Amino acid sequence: MASKKGKEPNVGASRRDDRENDARPVDGGIQGDDARYDRALRPKSFADYIGQEKHKDNLRVFVEAAKRRGEPLDHLLLSGPPGLGKTTLAQILAAEMGVALHMTNGPVVEHKGALAGLLTKLGPNDILFIDEIHRLNPIVEESLYPALEDFQIDVVTGEGAFSSSIQIPISPFTLVGATTRTGLLTGPLLSRFGHAVRLDFYPPEELARIVLRSAELLAVPISKGAAHAIAVRSRGTPRVANRLLRRVRDFAEVLGNGAIDELSVATASKRLDVDDKGFDEMDRRLLKVILDDYDGGPVGVETLAAALGEPRDTIEDVYEPYLLQQGFIGRTPRGRIATKRAYEHFGLKRPSGQGILQADLFSEGDPEEP
Ligand code: ADE
Repeated sequence: MASKKGKEPNVGASRRDDRENDARPVDGGIQGDDARYDRALRPKSFADYIGQEKHKDNLRVFVEAAKRRGEPLDHLLLSGPPGLGKTTLAQILAAEMGVALHMTNGPVVEHKGALAGLLTKLGPNDILFIDEIHRLNPIVEESLYPALEDFQIDVVTGEGAFSSSIQIPISPFTLVGATTRTGLLTGPLLSRFGHAVRLDFYPPEELARIVLRSAELLAVPISKGAAHAIAVRSRGTPRVANRLLRRVRDFAEVLGNGAIDELSVATASKRLDVDDKGFDEMDRRLLKVILDDYDGGPVGVETLAAALGEPRDTIEDVYEPYLLQQGFIGRTPRGRIATKRAYEHFGLKRPSGQGILQADLFSEGDPEEP
C-alpha cells in the first residue's frame, strides 16, 4: 500500500514480530505496543530527527540534488541493528522528496509475480522500502535487477519452446533496502545500491534528547536527569528508549505523582530487571555463559545459541551488537570472548594470561565464524 504524507504505510509481518512474546524491555525489535507509539513519536522530517548527523547531512544533499533534477534518489541501503530508525529514515526520505512510500518485507515477497505487482504500482520517483532485504528469495531478488537498473521488468509469456520474454517499463523509482545483516546480501544486489548508510548506536546525550522530545509529545513531565538515566539504560537504541520511557511513565503514574524523576527511573529499572548499563537477564546470561561455563571464551556462536536456547540469528542480530560495541565481548575466529570490562561488570578477576591480542579480534568485513 502506498502512503502519501500523513498516511500510514503497510508493513508486512516480519520475523521479529513472530517473537513478540519474549518481550525484553531492552530489545531493539518491535514488540507489544511499539508500532503504535513508534508512529506517534516518530519524527516526520530531517528537522525533527535527532542524531545520525553525518548521515542526515548527506541524505539531505541527495534529496535536494534529486529534487532539482526531477529524478528519483539513487537506490539506498540502510543497515544496522533493530530500532535505530531505518524505517523512520525511509519515511522521512519519502516525505522530503514529496513522493509515496510503498513498504514491504523481504520474506513477504514470495514470488516474482508479487514483486511485479509492487513494482507496477509505483508512481514516478516513489520509494519502495524492502525491510529485511537480506531475506529476499533469490529468484525474486534476481528479477529485481532489471527494475533497479533499467526501470523495467521482464515478463515471461507462453511455455516451453513457445515462451518469450517481454520487457515492461515501470516508473523510475528508488529502492530503499533495510537490513540488520549487510554480510548476508549478495554481491550483485549490494552493487546496485548507489549509497549505503550504516546506522550507529546513539550516544546517551542524543538518546536523552529523544526521550525529552517523546515525553513532550506524550505530555509526561520529566527531569533532564531522568531523561539521561533512561538514555544510558537504552542500549543506544531510540526504540528501547521510547519503550523504557513508557514503562517508567506507568510506574510514575501508579506509584508516584505522574512526573518522571531519577527515582522513578531507578524503581522501574529495578522492577524490569534492567541494570545501569541497560543489560537485562538475557545479556547477563550470555556474558555468564562465556565467563563461567567457558572460562572467558572463546565460545562458538552455535554453542552460545544452544546454551541460551535462542537461535543463532537472534544472538547475532539482537544480543551481540550492543555488547560488542560497548566492548563487553569480542569476536575472534574461534568464537566470542569476554573482555576485561565483562569481568569488571560482574566484579570478577580476569585470570592471568587471559588478555586478548588486538590481532585476534575480528573486525568489520571479516568472514563470519562458520
Ligand atoms: N524517535 C525515535 N527516533 C527518533 C530520532 N532519531 N529523533 C527523534 N525522535 C525519535
